[in-house]
Parts: sequence; structure tokens; C-alpha cells
Amino acid sequence: MLTKRMAHVKPSVTLAVSAKAKELTAQGIEITDFSVGEPDFRTPTHIKEAAIRAIEENFTRYTVNTGIPELRAAICEKLSRDNDLSYEPTEIIVSSGAKQCLYSAIMAMVAPGDEVLVPTPCWVSYLPQVALAGAKAVPVTTDEETNFRVTPASLEAKISDRTRAIILNSPSNPTGAAYSAGQLRAIASVLRKHGIFVIADEIYEKLVYNGFQFVSFGSLDDGWKERCLVVNGVSKAYAMTGWRIGYAAGPASLIKAMAKIQGHSTSNANSIAQKAALAALTGPQDGVEQMRQAFSRRRDLMLEHLAAIPELRTTRPQGAFYLFPNWSAYIGRSAGGKKIESCVDLATYLLEEARVAAVPGAGFEAPGYLRFSYAASEEQISAGMERVAKAAAALH
Ligand SMILES: Cc1ncc(COP(=O)(O)O)c(C=O)c1O
Repeated sequence: MLTKRMAHVKPSVTLAVSAKAKELTAQGIEITDFSVGEPDFRTPTHIKEAAIRAIEENFTRYTVNTGIPELRAAICEKLSRDNDLSYEPTEIIVSSGAKQCLYSAIMAMVAPGDEVLVPTPCWVSYLPQVALAGAKAVPVTTDEETNFRVTPASLEAKISDRTRAIILNSPSNPTGAAYSAGQLRAIASVLRKHGIFVIADEIYEKLVYNGFQFVSFGSLDDGWKERCLVVNGVSKAYAMTGWRIGYAAGPASLIKAMAKIQGHSTSNANSIAQKAALAALTGPQDGVEQMRQAFSRRRDLMLEHLAAIPELRTTRPQGAFYLFPNWSAYIGRSAGGKKIESCVDLATYLLEEARVAAVPGAGFEAPGYLRFSYAASEEQISAGMERVAKAAAALH
């Protein structure tokens, strides 16, 4: 009944931990949740009002498949203003989240026999999306030695004559690592030499810290715009995860192909949410900065707590809202007669002992790590991390 390709799409290893968290919550046990992948802030009022207006004005019908013209124009304006990129509205597609943009792009670009480079640790959906297209994802492993960034040499080692594209996520989920202009140029020269197309997932662009200068891959000189798809959206920057609006900018032929896939699967993104995204991109931006500053403080606070736990290795990331400590020193230890065999066991242990939810690194192709999201209040971070430290100390 099922296709062969479904065998390559693995169920999420993180489900067991989130099911356990739900079970404990249902028993009335309060869990501090550091597993979330979304800002804990509210969508700004002016954005919500734009959506309410859209409903009242009966803006409730199908729209143009690739997105309403004024939103695509606002995206072009945003890409020019923030990223020094020059795109026409025909080179833009609006979809139901950046996730759908990535999926359509992969379906349009790769086929069985093709290879796609995926730097790991990586976001949970890249490998399944490549598998659903019948192509092969080739991990390019990184670790804290290179601050979770690929290097020209590590890329070169994984390129074959079948390599079609790379999915480059900066800042990264789960590591928070981001590439400077110089680091991007260094890897761009390797990719150019081999004619590799870049799918640049820039969804965390706005959440960078300590003066880090975000650079869009498409803005690199040497005509990268022609060989790159810039993927972004309003989910993380404007606390709009549930509205489901993402967008992509790239060569018109690719955008057209993605539009065909979208047109025959979901059609346009939600009409009301498109109006809200328009308000997000064209309205006041001070809410983004306030949220960024709050995340910056929370990052430092959580880093302090992690630094106090012996034998953990945690890099100081440039962006996103995740920390990705290496817990391998703790794998193999026991508490109360129970042995921790894996990062999934460790996440389950922290849930039971510290009442803290974190995501096992195995879900991001990085066993031995745990992802802690700091999309939580400073009080929650302090109290939760103190319990994590106690639970870690009890492991021998
Ligand atoms: C790296 C990365 N890319 C894409 C997405 C998807 O974002 P959207 O809500 O726009 O679909 C996420 C969401 O968690 C993400 O972490």
C-alpha cells in the first residue's frame, strides 16, 4: 500500500519525549518547557488588527496562488531594505510557512539519484523532505570544534557528481550557529566550483546577538542570486508561528515550478494571514527589536546556568533561540539504578527528575546533545536550569 520512499521517512524520535511531557502535565505535574520551537511572545497588536480588518472586509476568498501582489511587493521591499537583494514580485512565492517553501523547492529540484548536502546537526524536516523527493540527503557533520559551521574542506569531502543542492540554515536550528559574510564567501567558492544550488533557510535572520551582522546568502557577489533560493517568513521574527506564512525568493523558473506544486496541493496561503504578514513587514518593527533583546538576555542567563554544570560543552551561538550543549560525558552514567544509554534516555530522565523538557539531539542528527530553547521567561530559565543542574549532579 505504501511507497518505498516512505521507508526512508523516519518517525520523529522526539515524539516519545513530548508524549511523556504531555502525560506528566495531564497528571498535574508542572513541566518547565525548554523544548519549544517558537517565540513565547504574543503576535503584535497591529498585526492582529490587520487580520481582524481583513475578516471584517470579507477578504476571505482564494487569492492568487503565489500570494497577494501587495504582500509580494512588500517582501521585495523587505529583501531590498534588510538584505540588499533585488527581486521582482514574479521571483517571490508566499506559502503556508517557510516549511512549505522548502518542501516545494526540494520537490521541484531533486529526484531519485540526486544528492543534497545537509550540514548537521540540522532542523528535523530537512532529511524527511529530501527523502520524500526520493533523493539522498548527505550529512556534512559539524560539532563544537568549528562552532557547528561547515568548512570549505568538510563540504568538499562530501561533494559528488550527483550533488545538486545544499540546504544552508543560518542562524541554525538547533545550534544557533550563524555564518559571517567571510565564512559564507569561503564556502560559496567551493559550491560555485561544483555548480551547487543553495537553498538558504534564513528564518531566524532577525534573532542575532552581540552585534552579529546577518548576511543573506543571495546577496553574495558573483551572481549568487541566480543560484540560490532565499527562504524566510514571519513565524519567528514576529511571533506568528500559527499564522503559517513563509516566503521564498529565487530564479523565476524555480518559483514557477514551486507555484505549480503549491497550486496543485494547497493553493494560496491563508488570505487573512497574508494581510497580517503584510502588516508585519510594512508596520512598526520595534516589537522585533524588543523580542530580540529579551532573547539575548535569556541566552546569556541560560548559558551561565549550563556553564555551571561540569563536563558539559556548550558553544555561545550567534542567533536563533536555542542552546545545544554536548552531554556525551553523561551518557553511560546512572541514577537510582537506571542507566542513561542515549540522549533520549537523558531527556526522559530530565523530564522525570527535573520536570524540564528538552529535545534529544538525535532528532537533529546529533546524538549526545540536548536542545534547550530559551523561549521561556527568565524566572522559568533560572528555576528550570537549577533543577537540571541538580539532576545532572545525581548521575554517576
Ligand atoms: C530552521 C527552520 N526552518 C524552517 C522552519 C519553518 O518555519 P515556518 O513556521 O515558517 O514553517 C523552522 C521552524 O521551526 C525552522 O526551525
